[in-house]
Amino acid sequence: MTSISLPELCLVALIGASGSGKTTFAREQFAPGEVLSSDAFRMLVSGDENAQDATHDAFEALYFVARQRLRRGLLTVIDATSVQADARRHIVALAREFDVLPVAVVLDLPEDVLMARYRARTDRHFGPQVISGQVGQLRKSLGKLQAEGFRHVTVLRSAEDVRAVSITRTR
Ligand code: GTP
Repeated sequence: MTSISLPELCLVALIGASGSGKTTFAREQFAPGEVLSSDAFRMLVSGDENAQDATHDAFEALYFVARQRLRRGLLTVIDATSVQADARRHIVALAREFDVLPVAVVLDLPEDVLMARYRARTDRHFGPQVISGQVGQLRKSLGKLQAEGFRHVTVLRSAEDVRAVSITRTR
């Protein structure tokens, strides 16, 4: 079992390629209002959670809500792939803006697992090469997360690891 101890107020980034199980993990481990999902915000701003042309607007809205939550002292989880350094830079900057701890939970599942899930899904329309690209970006990122500013980094490498996480909150 992997134990993750979170301060009651922190900014959690779930990091992982599409299909790694971020949304499923978030649903199991956090309250609904705590999780800001890029897919949900794409849906809100455009009516289509897959609309890549809505990404900019979706993140603007997501960050607006994240700021409102952190200002109120509420733990916030960002459910987006965040496999690119640039995306993570925004998360760390946001945490610093509110003087809260940026926490990374990385879902680094084997590529064949991601591909099998992708093939079984009807809700994702990009090609499988997108997942390979994300996996490559994630692997390059793994050693850099602490230096980027994430203070707690947990890397989960299998579906079993993901399911066996126990999160506790500390004051
Ligand atoms: P994106 O939203 O595309 O970035 O994916 P995600 O990382 O949020 O993954 P999500 O939780 O949406 O799960 C992707 C697919 O994998 C869904 O069809 C889930 O039902 C499935 N899935 C998630 N976790 C597991 C698991 O532990 N086992 C199996 N078999 N399938 C899972």
